[in-house]
Amino acid sequence: MANAPLKKIITFYCRFTPSYSAIGFYARRLFWRRTGTDFAGQTWLVTGGSEGIGGSAARQAVAGGATVISVARDLGKLKAFAASVKGSGKVLFEVADLSLQEDIRSLLTRLEERKVRIDVLVNNVGIQKRDQILTKEGLETSFSTNILGHYHLTRELLARKMLSENAAVIEVSSGGMYNHALAVKDLNITGSGYLGVRAYGLAKRAQVVLTGYWRQKYAATGKSFYAMHPGWVDTASVGRSMPRFRAMLKSVLRDHSQGADTIVWLAAKRPKQAGGESIWFDRKERSVHIFPHTPKTSDTAADLIATLDSFLQPGLGRAMSAERDADSRQGDAKLRAATA
Ligand SMILES: NC(=O)c1ccc[n+]([C@@H]2O[C@H](COP(=O)([O-])OP(=O)(O)OC[C@H]3O[C@@H](n4cnc5c(N)ncnc54)[C@H](OP(=O)(O)O)[C@@H]3O)[C@@H](O)[C@H]2O)c1
Repeated sequence: MANAPLKKIITFYCRFTPSYSAIGFYARRLFWRRTGTDFAGQTWLVTGGSEGIGGSAARQAVAGGATVISVARDLGKLKAFAASVKGSGKVLFEVADLSLQEDIRSLLTRLEERKVRIDVLVNNVGIQKRDQILTKEGLETSFSTNILGHYHLTRELLARKMLSENAAVIEVSSGGMYNHALAVKDLNITGSGYLGVRAYGLAKRAQVVLTGYWRQKYAATGKSFYAMHPGWVDTASVGRSMPRFRAMLKSVLRDHSQGADTIVWLAAKRPKQAGGESIWFDRKERSVHIFPHTPKTSDTAADLIATLDSFLQPGLGRAMSAERDADSRQGDAKLRAATA
């Protein structure tokens, strides 16, 4: 029994390392055709676009001639990033903390005032927290950053007609979503029962479901909606949130441009999708389930949208959260009583 977790860990790394690391990238690249990356005249908005995967996507877009609006929190980092980018396009930047819905509202206002029309939206920002941290708006930070903010930004850009007719919306999800079924009630855990890796995985699953929803809703338009995952990439957030994972696999982790490759390829190629939910990885549409437990949920895309909408109405989302947390505390108390 003591060896069970070890066996699980070994099975996990044997199964995923060859594919998600740079090894998988180099092997698959042998079969790729050259794709043109002419983005001249396009405007991109990249969240978390001052470093890591988002930074590299922004760099590659500028190299192809795009104007990229990079959004992040740290003005100094954004300025340094913009100054370092080379290409026929350019980088503009906007400071916003995308874990805060009020910052997203004011970002939207600024963009609308400037009459910005976006051709490629890369919802890239994503964080994994070990400890439960609430934003000043009272939401769990990874929920607010990884899914609610993505939904908020996209919903409003669509409603305000700030996405061009043939825009592409690209959600940067994670292989971590494969462990989790959609569980909308567990997305925002502000009380007991929080586990950072689960909160992250649930939000990443929700991104995939959300993308399927947008795709269906806007099927009659020229817009494209893609979810992708980048594999395992050696970025600052991996160093912070998973130091042991990074130390162990550092020599085979992908570099930033390999992590951003499928984002840029999707934006350039706009491939047709089989329909329903899917996730792209290394330029190929993949199944959204690899474990038998994850399709088994009664939660639907409609439930997800209703829940996300509720969090964007003042007061209502918090009330739902409080109800869920009360349930969870009761559950914890029952468990403690049963095991005492
Ligand atoms: N790296 C991997 O192996 C891996 C694997 C699977 C999925 N992913 C996904 O890929 C995406 C990018 O990850 P990454 O590893 O490239 O991250 P990263 O290197 O840590 O980059 C983070 C970027 O996001 C910005 N940012 C962080 N929090 C923000 C906030 N609250 N508001 C606005 N901007 C914020 C940062 O700038 P500031 O600090 O200035 O805000 C920076 O530009 C995420 O969605 C992640 O879940 C990554």
